[in-house]
Amino acid sequence: AQSQSLRGKKVLVTAGGTVERLDPVRYLTNDSSGKMGFSIAEAAANRGAEVTLIAARTTAEAIGGVTLVKVESAEQMLQAVLERYEDADIVVKAAAVADYRPVAVADKKIKKSDERLVIELERTTDILQTLGERKQGQYLVGFAAETEQMEQYAMDKLHRKHCDLVVANNVAEAGAGFNHDTNIVSIYGEEGLIETVPLMQKRQVADRLLEIIVQRMSARGAG
Ligand code: PMT
Repeated sequence: AQSQSLRGKKVLVTAGGTVERLDPVRYLTNDSSGKMGFSIAEAAANRGAEVTLIAARTTAEAIGGVTLVKVESAEQMLQAVLERYEDADIVVKAAAVADYRPVAVADKKIKKSDERLVIELERTTDILQTLGERKQGQYLVGFAAETEQMEQYAMDKLHRKHCDLVVANNVAEAGAGFNHDTNIVSIYGEEGLIETVPLMQKRQVADRLLEIIVQRMSARGAG
């Protein structure tokens, strides 16, 4: 039954937008609300899984029965995920992780002057890539926020980051991607496009994604 299909499985989900600080009161972030990741965590818990949700900045509400770990930056999210990775059966990376962070974080509020201010940024660690490289049987699901050439970029991410599935949302489409209650996604596996899920509530998108994960894990004999 659906309610028991992930019983005994440990599921790790990331959600929200990371916060990369410039000083104690200023930071860089993005429009992720966490709704997509929280919906996935809830859908997994509804199927009997033991769920840990690692959340950066989010507007979504805590979910009963799901362990919530709050983080701020990409680096903190990386550490929180790595600590729990070995034990996880399924990992879903729905967070919008910053690709860049300020090189220097001022410990006092930056003062203004009449000069231009240049902020130097450096790359963050790619969490999904790191997980892909250290994979030991975990079922790894990445997301891809794209505005064009969805299939090409999604398949490239799937191979480069050793994902079992990549969920691509075209964030340029109305009702899809960041902050909406709804999404439109295309789900890709090793063989290419598995399914396009038309505009629907993120809760329903999450349910369909979990169904596909359960089916494919049992087909490969790990379910
Ligand atoms: O939170 P919502 O408002 O509900 O919006 C949902 C969403 C649009 C944020 C979500 O559906 C989504 O697409 N999340 C991934 C957004 C993203 O960062 O995409 P990307 O193409 O830049 O990254 C691809 C994958 O690599 C993602 O799984 C991301 O978590 C991961 N990544 C990226 C950078 C990085 N440093 N580490 C990572 O692990």
